[in-house]
Amino acid sequence: MRHIKTILFLSLVAVLILTACGAKTPAPAPATQKPAAKPFGEAACGPNCAYKDMTMCFPQLGAESDWRTADTASFKSEAEKDGFKLVFSDAQQKQENQISAVRACIQQGVSVIALPPVVEDGWDAVLTEAQNAGIPVIIVDRSVSADASMYVSHIGSDMVLEGQRAAAEFNKKFPSGAKILELSGTTGSGAAEGRAKGFRKDLASNIQIIDSQTGNFTRAEAVPVMQAFLQKYKAGTDFQGIFIHNDDMGLGAIEALKAAGVKPGDLFIVSVDGTRGGFQAMIDGWFQADVECNPLLGPQVAEMALKIMNGQSIDKNVLTNETVYYPDNAAQLIGSRQY
Ligand code: AHR
Repeated sequence: MRHIKTILFLSLVAVLILTACGAKTPAPAPATQKPAAKPFGEAACGPNCAYKDMTMCFPQLGAESDWRTADTASFKSEAEKDGFKLVFSDAQQKQENQISAVRACIQQGVSVIALPPVVEDGWDAVLTEAQNAGIPVIIVDRSVSADASMYVSHIGSDMVLEGQRAAAEFNKKFPSGAKILELSGTTGSGAAEGRAKGFRKDLASNIQIIDSQTGNFTRAEAVPVMQAFLQKYKAGTDFQGIFIHNDDMGLGAIEALKAAGVKPGDLFIVSVDGTRGGFQAMIDGWFQADVECNPLLGPQVAEMALKIMNGQSIDKNVLTNETVYYPDNAAQLIGSRQY
């Protein structure tokens, strides 16, 4: 016991002596100087990147319409003009194909991904993968429901406003009310959901949408949908108008209407896009208005992508400036339409 007390006493004395002599715990090693973080998306060549340094991934959603064909052409010709590499794929309107294409682009280490999402939901996982790989994503044309922090910007049309513009045409035409049909775009897509929402928001309460079916934005699928409508409802009696979410479906609907003996002008038809086909339908008396949706997004997206690579600031949401076209000057304008 005496022994233990002595050891404890000596230890205490040693601690006191060391403290008095200023013994210190070793100082932490100096932190290594980290370079200032580059803004998200800035490439290694930033802030002096040129188009030749850019590889843009463009996993196009499909080739379902003349609008889409013009959109694809706009990206391809911009890449050729500016001299950047475009990694193009066609997902045939299937989200799983688009997701695989995005993953392949991440593997490849592209500079930027311009994603036109076929539907709004279901992008969180792949957007996180792109973010983790440091690849900026620009959402193009349609919208996504993912949080805005998961992509750098969105460039495209205001689909809700397009629906509101269509509603305004029906409200003007039918001040005393009417019954109408809706031929809608791809279910779950930003374009169809936005247009349907804007349309319902502004449509007068005395105008009733008696039925709404999807034609998936294609001419081929719109034909049987319109035929089924015509079996169920008598044109002119049961309904007086149709809101059609794009020109291709409008042309399909016209095929079915013609076959059923309906004449141009018997129904009030408003479509969306403003393609040459839509202009011809106005000239022929089938469409009474065509709400513009501009597909020529290539130049804007390329310019923004280069800015991102150079660490420059960009807007989070860039909306395309659009209008409504009418039959009265359709013949005059059709020659200058680019799509
Ligand atoms: O997302 C834009 C829409 O998609 C266009 O209105 C339609 O034509 C296309 O298929």
